[in-house]
Amino acid sequence: MESKVENLSSRRTLSNGVGIPCVGFGTWQTPSGDVARDVVKKALEVGFRHIDTATAYGNEASVGEGLRLSGVKREDVFITTKQWTDIRGCAATVAAAEKAIQTLGVDYLDLYLVHWPAVAKLSADWAQMNADTWRGFEKLYKDGKVRAIGVSNFMPEHLEALKASAEVMPMVDQVEFHPGYMQRNVLDYCAANGIQVEAWSPLGSGRLLADPLVTKIGAAHGKSSAQTCVRYAIQHGIVPLPKSTHAERIAANAEVFDFALSDEEMSALDSMPETGYRV
Ligand SMILES: NC(=O)c1ccc[n+]([C@@H]2O[C@H](COP(=O)([O-])OP(=O)(O)OC[C@H]3O[C@@H](n4cnc5c(N)ncnc54)[C@H](OP(=O)(O)O)[C@@H]3O)[C@@H](O)[C@H]2O)c1
Repeated sequence: MESKVENLSSRRTLSNGVGIPCVGFGTWQTPSGDVARDVVKKALEVGFRHIDTATAYGNEASVGEGLRLSGVKREDVFITTKQWTDIRGCAATVAAAEKAIQTLGVDYLDLYLVHWPAVAKLSADWAQMNADTWRGFEKLYKDGKVRAIGVSNFMPEHLEALKASAEVMPMVDQVEFHPGYMQRNVLDYCAANGIQVEAWSPLGSGRLLADPLVTKIGAAHGKSSAQTCVRYAIQHGIVPLPKSTHAERIAANAEVFDFALSDEEMSALDSMPETGYRV
């Protein structure tokens, strides 16, 4: 699988056979309007074929505008959006997805994600809430409104609970992943259950860019720390979603197919001190 990942159009295969471009372009904290429109257009110009947004980011309309302005055909771009935590349950899920499709100005989504699970800390009936929401995702999938369905920030216990009632298991789990924050328990669960992992904050939301180890490993390949982090996720078989609002950085983050990290470098990055969001 890894050897076939050669450029931004290379696809990994989800459990239902749908291909997902191996690197996506992130849009969290990318302001709606000219900024989001222009960075999406730029990302598509430099070769990204996968855009990650969310209803909570408030920029779906501008993301759609950037897509149309780019001139790249809709079917050549993989579009993901996510349902925020204010929407739970089957009927509300279907309505929210239809609204997101309309806001993006597309006919279908490639991937629709539950942004965060209902969790035990906040809701005693979290498992039932997630099961009810998931029924809406399954309906959207069966009705052809979305090509693939998945979750985000689901830990193994949330996925295991969903398994009890799901007819179709999530095809993707999008979680925080970068050097210093591997969440190996999630990776292992997903590998065993045919779920593709996507990496949010693959650059640690910028926190890893000045890290001495990441910088040193990158420099040995003539690469930046950002490029090293993107490459690290790719070599783990994970789909990274680097975000930038700067044209030159968007282009640079795509230049990750002309070098490879050694096993020793991968192990060093795997075992570096914790740099996770919650750490
Ligand atoms: N599912 C979830 O709960 C969840 C949570 C977080 C993120 N996400 C997704 O994952 C995406 C990526 O995560 P993220 O936005 O947290 O952060 P990230 O991609 O890890 O890092 C982005 C930060 O790094 C900077 N940057 C990017 N490329 C650079 C480069 N080549 N040189 C120097 N600086 C660079 C960006 O600055 P500039 O923008 O100023 O260039 C920004 O501050 C999000 O945009 C979103 O799509 C999902």
